[in-house]
Amino acid sequence: MKIAVKDKRIALVGGAGFIGHNLALALKENGADVHVIDGLQVNHLGTIYGNPSMPNRDIYLQILHERMDLLQQNNIPVHVVDARDYHLLCQSLDNIRPHVIVHLAAIAHANQSNKDPHSTFDHSLRTLENSLDNARSLKIEQFIYLSSSMIYGNFLQAEVKENSPLDPIGIYGALKFSGEKMVVAYNQVFDLPYTIIRPSALYGQRCVSRRVGQIFIENAMNGHEITITGDGSDKLDFTYIKDFVNGLMLAISTENAKNQIFNLTTGNARTLSEMAKILKQHFPEAKIKHADWDRLMPKRGTLSIEKAKSLLGYQSQYQLEQGFVEYIDWYKNMEHGDSHAGLSVVVE
Ligand SMILES: NC(=O)c1ccc[n+]([C@@H]2O[C@H](COP(=O)([O-])OP(=O)(O)OC[C@H]3O[C@@H](n4cnc5c(N)ncnc54)[C@H](O)[C@@H]3O)[C@@H](O)[C@H]2O)c1
Repeated sequence: MKIAVKDKRIALVGGAGFIGHNLALALKENGADVHVIDGLQVNHLGTIYGNPSMPNRDIYLQILHERMDLLQQNNIPVHVVDARDYHLLCQSLDNIRPHVIVHLAAIAHANQSNKDPHSTFDHSLRTLENSLDNARSLKIEQFIYLSSSMIYGNFLQAEVKENSPLDPIGIYGALKFSGEKMVVAYNQVFDLPYTIIRPSALYGQRCVSRRVGQIFIENAMNGHEITITGDGSDKLDFTYIKDFVNGLMLAISTENAKNQIFNLTTGNARTLSEMAKILKQHFPEAKIKHADWDRLMPKRGTLSIEKAKSLLGYQSQYQLEQGFVEYIDWYKNMEHGDSHAGLSVVVE
């Protein structure tokens, strides 16, 4: 079923990333006029070309080129802009004249953020403020901000709702929390309509962020041990990218989404051991070991998706048994060809 986005011009800031390019492709398929704005320097081609000793580097280059090829094949313009530069971003958004801006740019990894708070601030909050300020001048219809389940900190109940207490731990969660406050402040001061989305533990095709599911599969394929932090009983609300992108499109197409905050997940936390068990069914030789839990990683669980169900009509279609298995199959079927540089980009 088509989602009603076809009359919208949508700019995705940080749109060549894992979520962004999947969203761009889905929006295009549903008839939207979609533009990607991205610097390609964070968790992208710039980072990986600059790091010759990175594990699985060839695979990541191949995946990133595949993203760019898909955007090109679908006639989605990629504007290469560092969104930390206010004036460059302004020029780019002025040319695009979007109805909707989705702000995805960030250092999207908690460990990395704790290692490098300075550049995390710049790529996450500086870029956000630049997007917000441009959005209010352009008088756009909706500003969408990608927050995170990390802003809850340790979950106090098995299931958190959007109005549960927020008590983030570490740099990443603190910046996401600040980001939400900035978005709401722009609404209070300038009437900028917003939607805040809180995802959790996304996994799926063409991710290079080395989150747990991806590392499990890559280690299993390479015959390396799989490390579970903690005893395996810790739970995450793993969410398949296809569900998430559908939810985001519903948030863009639904008037009810304006000035609201949504958890957008599967709505069913699963243990790390359960994920490893599914992996073992596909890689029976895989060896599992345990390591200490990272004290800066909050203990999480299920994010309630009742609000997204009732206001957006969102339904999650993929439990781990479907989504993670589809992801494993994608990896197994990936052709290991040479990565090439078939890029078509607008450098601004
Ligand atoms: N993937 C998840 O599980 C998850 C969970 C919670 C929240 N989020 C949030 O969703 C958003 C997108 O995450 P993702 O997984 O797609 O991350 P990603 O790292 O794959 O994509 C981020 C993109 O932003 C771009 N970017 C960063 N700094 C930039 C800058 N200065 N100028 C222009 N582009 C810049 C990068 O080049 C990259 O393409 C992030 O804000 C992240 O914090 C993701």
